[in-house]
Formats: sequence, C-alpha cells, structure tokens
Amino acid sequence: MKTLKIAFIMDSMENILLKWDTSMGIMIEAQKRGHQIFYLEPKDLFAQNGSAYGEAREVRVSRKRGFEIVHLQTLNLKTFDIIFNRKEPPFDVSYLYLTYLLELAEPEAFVINSPKGVRKANEKFYILEFEKWIPPTLVSNNPERIEVFQRKLKCDLILKPLDLKGGAGIKLLPLRSKKARTILHRATRGGSKWIMAQKFLKRNLTSGDKRILMLNGQPIGQFGRIPKRGEFRANLSLGGKHIRARLTAREKKLIRTLRPKLLRDGLYFVGIDVVDGKLIEMNVTSPAGITEINLLEGKHPEVQVVNFLEAKAWKR
Ligand SMILES: Nc1ncnc2c1ncn2[C@@H]1O[C@H](COP(=O)(O)OP(=O)(O)OP(=O)(O)O)[C@@H](O)[C@H]1O
Ligand SMILES: [Mg+2]
Repeated sequence: MKTLKIAFIMDSMENILLKWDTSMGIMIEAQKRGHQIFYLEPKDLFAQNGSAYGEAREVRVSRKRGFEIVHLQTLNLKTFDIIFNRKEPPFDVSYLYLTYLLELAEPEAFVINSPKGVRKANEKFYILEFEKWIPPTLVSNNPERIEVFQRKLKCDLILKPLDLKGGAGIKLLPLRSKKARTILHRATRGGSKWIMAQKFLKRNLTSGDKRILMLNGQPIGQFGRIPKRGEFRANLSLGGKHIRARLTAREKKLIRTLRPKLLRDGLYFVGIDVVDGKLIEMNVTSPAGITEINLLEGKHPEVQVVNFLEAKAWKR
C-alpha cells in the first residue's frame, strides 16, 4: 500500500502542549507507519483561481522535541491524501473561510471533518438537533427572554458563548440572582449576541462530565472530568480532574442515535460531552482526549484513527 501524505491544519505549534496534544498522538502513530506528515497553519493557506494551496512544512514529530521541519514547499491541497483539520475555535469568520479553502481540496483529498459538516455543526448549536437528549436549552440574545425561561424552569442556568471552547466565557446564572440583569447584559453584549442558556445539571458538580470520543460513528474511548473545588466547569484547562469512566446503557443509546446524522454530515472524528446522560456539547473542530485515554485506560484510540484514515485513502 502506498504511503500517504497527511496534512494537519493546526494552530501555532508554539502553543501546543507536547505531552497532551491529541493531534500529536495521531501524527506520531501515522509517522510510525511511514506516512509523510505535513503541518500547516491557516495563515499558510491561500486560494488561487480554482485551487487551494498551502505552504506545507513536512515535519518529524516527537513528544519530547516537538516539530522538526524537514522540508518546506508550496503544494496544491489536492496533492494530500488526507487533510486533518485540527484548528481550534473560536469558530469565527476566519474559521468559516478556512472551511471554504479546505473544500477546494475535495474530493481528491479526504478532508476530516468534512468542511460542510463543520460549517453545519456549530459545536453548541448542533445539539439542538437531538432534542430528546439535551437539557432544557434556549438560544437567544434577549436577556428578558432568558429570564422568563429561567423563571419557568426554576433552576440555575449555565450561559455559554456559541463560538468558544475550554470553558471560556461560560457563566453561571443562579436562580433569583440579584445580578441577573448585569450577568445577562454582559453575556449577550447588551442583547446583540446569541448565547446558549441551559439548565445547569447539578450532577456536574459531583460526577462531572464525560468526554466520549467517536470515530466513524463508533465510540473509541471516554473519560470523566470532575470540576475542581469552587469551579463549576469541568474543563481540564480549568483544573478539572480526569478519571476513568465507563459508558452507561443510556450513553450507548445516545451514540446510536447520533451515528447516522454524524455520518451523513461527514463528522467522522468528534468528541461529545455528556452530563448526567444528557448531551451538552458536540466537539467537531478539534476534539481532544486521546492522551487522557492512553494514560487512564492504556488504550490507543489513535491506532483506530490512523486505520480509518488509511482505509479512506486507500479506497480512493
Ligand atoms: N448544562 C450543564 N449543566 C452542568 N454543567 C455544565 C452544563 N453545560 C456545561 N457544563 C459544564 O461546563 C463545562 C464546559 O461546557 P461545554 O463543554 O458545553 O463548553 P466548552 O468547555 O466551551 O467546550 P469544549 O469542550 O470544546 O472545551 C463542561 O465541561 C461542564 O462541566
Ligand atoms: Mg466541553
């Protein structure tokens, strides 16, 4: 079988946590099998006439030394067998344009996740398509509407920006808070920005949330995250502690429900976040968790990921 040219679209290599980075885990596995690994930042991409190109750095990768650049060349994105988009949020207009650029590489290159799918599946908004599986949720830019929603539900709400990650910008709106007006005014930027207001599931404080990694519609590993004391968000970047976790029967059913839609939308590698059996977020841009699963379970989901990439590329 021919060796593959695999491009990874990523944020600046300077900010990568070498020990934890999920993209690195996948790169190292692909490199072990003799495939060529290329690293590109969005700023290295451009489109001219009908094609998209990138100033591609071919790299050798290791957890200890990071990236060693072997070769730099400008390549038509169609010359890659696989383009793995691992650019992180914010999902802003630049991110939108990135999806257009990557789409020009199709169908010659297999782009994962599908640029169309990534455009469709806003990481917060997409869960609304699975109404039965989510906590009571409102997307609105109107502070009064959110207040009415809270009064009806009679519970604390969690307020989330639609375009960020890592717990950034997420606020708690306690029931009957005297500061409700101020909190909502700030969160919606004076009523001009849509946010997600969601029932705060108290189980998150004790049992945390669960990250389940899915590949081609199947679960390939999971772990739990418990918020640190005094924090309501379980994100690892905010001091959340990761723990071993099993999939419950309910979560397995959720996965079966998600599968056909994910596959239809070309969302092959995603990380879902679940609290108390409810879907709270669908990470499609740059889901992480491979290293956590390596360490907690001694399992290697990156092997399955690269098997999948090979199968896709060699079938073409
Ligand atoms: N409805 C909810 N009830 C209780 N806790 C929640 C709820 N939604 C989110 N959380 C907590 O807040 C954290 C962050 O929320 P979420 O995963 O939706 O966004 P994010 O952290 O910005 O996304 P990412 O996982 O991409 O970094 C979760 O890990 C969870 O601990
Ligand atoms: Mg999350």
